[in-house]
Amino acid sequence: MKFFLDTANLEDIKKYAAWGIVDGVTTNPSLIAKEGVSLEKRIKEIAKVVDGPISSEVISTKASGMIKEGREYAKWHKNIHVKLPMTPDGLIACKTLTEEGIKTNVTLIFSLGQALMAAKAGATLMSPFVGRLDDISDDGMALIADIVQAYDNYGFETEVLVASVRHPRHVMDAALIGADICTMPPKIFDQLATHPLTDSGIKKFLEDYKNSKK
Ligand code: E4P
Repeated sequence: MKFFLDTANLEDIKKYAAWGIVDGVTTNPSLIAKEGVSLEKRIKEIAKVVDGPISSEVISTKASGMIKEGREYAKWHKNIHVKLPMTPDGLIACKTLTEEGIKTNVTLIFSLGQALMAAKAGATLMSPFVGRLDDISDDGMALIADIVQAYDNYGFETEVLVASVRHPRHVMDAALIGADICTMPPKIFDQLATHPLTDSGIKKFLEDYKNSKK
């Protein structure tokens, strides 16, 4: 399972990349807006830190504009994945960019039907938003299970990137289902890596070691 960071904050990306387990980075216009830098500048900075897929999202709503933006983004770095909204125009852009050898991430997916459409359009990655489904009392992880099953039935190569992750349970459930990738806000990396029993265990070991030397 691949772990992506879901942030455009360069300090956080550097911090967690140093752990050696960051396989890629996802951004979106809201995350870029928080940073107060241009998309191009930040994506190029991220590409210097993480050697893996980096998602850069288009702003256009028409296919022609998305294709133009996508072609431009693809020139920035070989790891760029053009993030396209799951709309009919997004599908047209996905198909066109895929045929040109440009990698894509079809985003804002909330149903199995949309997941099938993204795979049919040749998306490299597709992003179902589990947290936003849970927020409206739907079941985000049930959607992931359905997508993984359906893609497996037909051998679709599009990778399932679990997005809108809110807590470590989402990541563990995604792993049990067999999703390809989870993209997580930085705090989830900390939550996954730590446990109170680990902390108290270290404390006790160190106390016992100190006492044994008296
Ligand atoms: C990542 O690709 C998505 O843009 C992101 O996970 C959305 O998360 P949110 O629902 O917390 O905004």
